[in-house]
This record gives sequence, C-alpha cells and structure tokens, in this order.
Amino acid sequence: MKNARKKIAMSNSKYILITGGAGYIGSHANHELTMQGYSTLVFDNLSTGYPELAKWGKFVLGDLSNRDHLRLVFRQYPIQAVMHFAAHLVVPESVSNPEKYYFNNVVNTLNLLSTMREFQVRHIVFSSTAATYGEPQYVPIDEAHPLKPINPYGTTKLTIERILEDYHNAYQMQYAVLRYFNAAGALATGEIGEDHSPETHLIPLILDAVLGRRPNIQIFGNDYPTPDGTCIRDYIHVCDLAVAHRLALEKIFTTNTSYIFNLGSETGYSVNEVIQNAAQVTGKVIPTMLASRRPGDPAKLVSTSKKAKQILGWNPRYDLTGILQTAWQWHQKRYSAKC
Ligand SMILES: NC(=O)c1ccc[n+]([C@@H]2O[C@H](COP(=O)([O-])OP(=O)(O)OC[C@H]3O[C@@H](n4cnc5c(N)ncnc54)[C@H](O)[C@@H]3O)[C@@H](O)[C@H]2O)c1
Repeated sequence: MKNARKKIAMSNSKYILITGGAGYIGSHANHELTMQGYSTLVFDNLSTGYPELAKWGKFVLGDLSNRDHLRLVFRQYPIQAVMHFAAHLVVPESVSNPEKYYFNNVVNTLNLLSTMREFQVRHIVFSSTAATYGEPQYVPIDEAHPLKPINPYGTTKLTIERILEDYHNAYQMQYAVLRYFNAAGALATGEIGEDHSPETHLIPLILDAVLGRRPNIQIFGNDYPTPDGTCIRDYIHVCDLAVAHRLALEKIFTTNTSYIFNLGSETGYSVNEVIQNAAQVTGKVIPTMLASRRPGDPAKLVSTSKKAKQILGWNPRYDLTGILQTAWQWHQKRYSAKC
C-alpha cells in the first residue's frame, strides 16, 4: 500500500538531482535512493567531494554558481525533485571568510531555487544543521527551540530556511528542512564514507590518531558541567540520515506540504565516552591531549527527533558502536595504505 502510494506520486524514470552528491552525506543519500529504485543525478564541483564517492546514477561536474550550466542540466534531464547538500561547512572558516559562505551557501542556493522554479520542479530536501539553534537554551533541542546561530555558517543555513519558507508561500515550493546533529559512520559495505579536508569532526579525528595520521586527539576542555567534564554531542549514523532524506522526500511529494525536522540519535555522548568506545572498537590505545575550551562550544547538544519519528516513521538503527565500527572499517580502507 505504502509503495503503491509512493509510485503514484514519484517516478522511477525521472531524476532526483543530488547537489553535493560526491560528498559525505550526499553520497550516502545517493546510495539509499538508488537501492530504493530511484534514478539519481549527482551535480558536484568536487571542491570537497570525490568522484569515487559518486558511485551510483549519473554524474555531472558542475558548480551551482553557473546558472547557465544549471539550466542546461535541467533542460537535458527530466528532474522531479532535488536533494540539496552542496555547501561549505567549516565553522571557523566561515568566521574568517564569511563572504565565501554567503556566496556558496546562500547565493548559489538561490541559483538552484530559481532554476527549479523556471523548470517547475517543486520539491526540495535541504541539508540544514543544528548550528541554526546556536547556544542551547534547553536540551533536548526540539524544532521549536529559538534559532540564534552564533557563526556565519549557521546564519547561511538559517537564511536558506527563510528563503525556502518564502518560496513555499509565494511559489508553492514544498521543502523538507532537515537539521542534522553530528553525522558520523559509513556505509556498512565500506564503499563510501567520510573524508573532509580539513577534518574537523571528532570521530574521524580520533581514527586519524589511531592510524598515526595525527599525533593525538585534542580534548577541548574537561571542566564543563557534564558527568566527566567533556562536551556532550549527539551522533547520528549517516545511513540513518540517508533514510530520513528519502522518507522526507516521499512525504513532501505525497502530502504537498513542507516540514522541518531535527535528525539526531536523541542520545548524548561525551568526548571521553566516544574516545573510550573508539578504543574498544579499534582495540588500540588512543593518545589524547588536553587543550583549553574553544569559544562557542556549548556543554551539551542533544536533539529530540520525535517529530521525524512520528511523521516520517523514521527509526534510526545505529548506536555509537555501530557508528564507530563502520567508520573504522572505512577509515582503515581509505587511509591505511597512505600511512
Ligand atoms: N557533516 C555533518 O556532520 C553535517 C552536519 C550538519 C549539516 N551538514 C550539511 O550537510 C551537507 C553535506 O555535508 P557533508 O558533510 O556531506 O559535506 P561534504 O563537503 O562532504 O559535501 C559537500 C559537497 O558539495 C559539493 N559542493 C560544494 N559547493 C558546491 C557548488 N557550488 N557546486 C557544486 N557542488 C558543490 C562539494 O564538492 C561536496 O561534494 C552540507 O550542506 C552541510 O552543511 C553536515
């Protein structure tokens, strides 16, 4: 019944355009869509992505800043919907070079939305972030939490959320805004996984320390008001995120409504707990170094994802151990040879 409904709304022959589909999360969404029988078209400039991650569907090398090229792509391929991952996402860089972020994240998203309008493509799933909330006023954070980003990266994402709301009201564009917490882990087959350069995420940094790709893992502050003094974060497996993207796309298609969802595991782990779990999974001692707190790092960031569970029927499968096991498998395969 569910499948029949999906087929009426969505077509398997028209493409789902995945901007940033050669990147970490976009490549896992591409895998999920392909496994569910959808046709995908990855559009990526490979600025931080990798051709070997764009394993499924068609690939177009292109930059969202080039509107003529975007138009050409929309003219050439029948596109039924868009998943929009392409962005810059390094918070400190967004502070030192905000213009780069406003152009790529905001202006280039407008190029995409305007092209979608021109070609009457009315459904988009957008990668937003927990960074739109800023300093948590309460945890777990729900979708009604005040939105006060504390860095330009978060502001660019919130600006796009506002633009989407206006496009929904004025042009009947349906969107699903997905505010992720910390994406982590890799496809269980080991075919694709996380590779950011520079890497800023805790789990790959820990695994780098295990492989000797960096001397140690820095712990920024151990005097936070948490049980072990280190910061607590919410880690969600990238394949669980990918499933949520597909479900969200099917939802906006079948209901013709727009939604905003938090996507997290609803479980917080401290930096020390993640390091201890990683030591168990890898069977290695992990060298650590205590450093001072970083400005703007809240003690605890944990989501509630009740809304996504209720409305999408989303049911994340991976716990922290599963995240670390899949990330470790990918990390060894990707980097062992280079060490
Ligand atoms: N990784 C996380 O934990 C996390 C958390 C919250 C939100 N997000 C959001 O998820 C999305 C994907 O993140 P990711 O971790 O996969 O990053 P990523 O860097 O691996 O992927 C981004 C992809 O977009 C491409 N890209 C960037 N600018 C482009 C442009 N102008 N034209 C075409 N392609 C372009 C890059 O080459 C890359 O392949 C981003 O929008 C990010 O803000 C990520």
